[in-house]
Amino acid sequence: MRNAETLALLGGKPINDKPFQFNNAIGEEERRAVLGVLDRGELSGFIASPGEPFWGGEAVRELQRMFCEHYGVKHAVAVNSATSGLLCALSATGIGPGDEVITSPYTMSATSTVALMLGAVPVFADIETDTFGIDPASVEANITPHTKAIIAVNIFGHAARLNQLRAIADRHGLFLIEDNAQAPDAVHQGRLTGTIGDLGVFSFNRHKVMQCGEGGVVVTNNDKLFEKAALMRNHGEAVLEGFGIDDLVNAIGLNLRMTELEAAVAIEQFKKLPRLNAERQALAQRLNEGLASIDGVIAPHVGEGDRHVYYMYAMKYDAARTGLPRDLFVKAMLAEGLFIRGGYLKPTYLYPTYQKRIAIGNKGFPFTANPRNQNLSYEQGLCPVCERFENRELMITAVMQPPQTLEDMDRYVAGIRKVLANRDALLKMAA
Ligand SMILES: Cc1ncc(COP(=O)(O)O)c(C=O)c1O
Repeated sequence: MRNAETLALLGGKPINDKPFQFNNAIGEEERRAVLGVLDRGELSGFIASPGEPFWGGEAVRELQRMFCEHYGVKHAVAVNSATSGLLCALSATGIGPGDEVITSPYTMSATSTVALMLGAVPVFADIETDTFGIDPASVEANITPHTKAIIAVNIFGHAARLNQLRAIADRHGLFLIEDNAQAPDAVHQGRLTGTIGDLGVFSFNRHKVMQCGEGGVVVTNNDKLFEKAALMRNHGEAVLEGFGIDDLVNAIGLNLRMTELEAAVAIEQFKKLPRLNAERQALAQRLNEGLASIDGVIAPHVGEGDRHVYYMYAMKYDAARTGLPRDLFVKAMLAEGLFIRGGYLKPTYLYPTYQKRIAIGNKGFPFTANPRNQNLSYEQGLCPVCERFENRELMITAVMQPPQTLEDMDRYVAGIRKVLANRDALLKMAA
């Protein structure tokens, strides 16, 4: 008979037989709100012409008002995704061909593709080892006369080093945009993330902490940036006269508008956000406590004065201390029925778009529009810290959300212990 502690990967019984589930926080409130919109019959309130309807319908405006109030900002622009929000935000800075945006390679691809869409190019700074956000020193080293903006990503639910990045942006006359898609209501040194940059962008896609299927919001205190972002959202060129704007730069718009149905759901979800975050924090805290006594699997860093909202639970992995290569550890965890992933996403610059420098059309635009085109680097090895984490030293899980329970967190930690206790058998199997 096999020992109960035998690893599932080696023929034993998995420690967990409950499949992982994403949280479903859509309830009666959202259902009622959507029915209310259907009853009103106005599924979108937008019209692309000067006047009130340029700004959207009742629910869209209410969502924007709630964001302004909660985040203490003057303006909010609701859009149909954070990708659209990033496009509006970056467009508002007046960026264009020949310009550069310094950003993180450790994020979802949209953070940097919006630069390409506007004819600019992303320049990738390396990340730092606590927050996995862009390293201020690397940002500073990458500034050139062509740099126009920095896009910082508050990745996994924790702030990047935003105050330092703010200081760098101010010193060099650059815009700072926060990609806050993963960190609604995170705090950096006492301030809510999304409000430290000139513009902050939130996502409400299906897998975010609060969601409405697809959606997002841009927040800013700057009147001009707000107007430009709103023009990008709603066919800007069609309203310029009514708008009274003399500056046409990047005012050509798209249809990036949020529907009333999405806004109605987002409003209800936003009301629940404190609870949704608190639930994750309690579960994550249990994992933190469990990991405290495990050598080589390290709980997420939380900076002094910061609040982590745990969109993802990112652990550092030290193979020298566990005695197991990360990917073997991950394989054994998965066999135990425990949700984990080795790494997050490959560094953005390794995607074919950057490797082959083909983005808009087939002649190399917008890379060719950059005056130092030949010197732009997207080579493997460009951001060694990022590559190290992706290839060997980072693991993520999303188990710290309902309907998973505190007992599930304990089982998760027990699973980690079980795998590490079977190190020699695993190494023998892999040999
Ligand atoms: C960091 C980050 N930025 C941007 C996005 C894009 O968000 P959306 O799906 O709302 O366009 C995502 C979504 O996964 C993200 O995680």
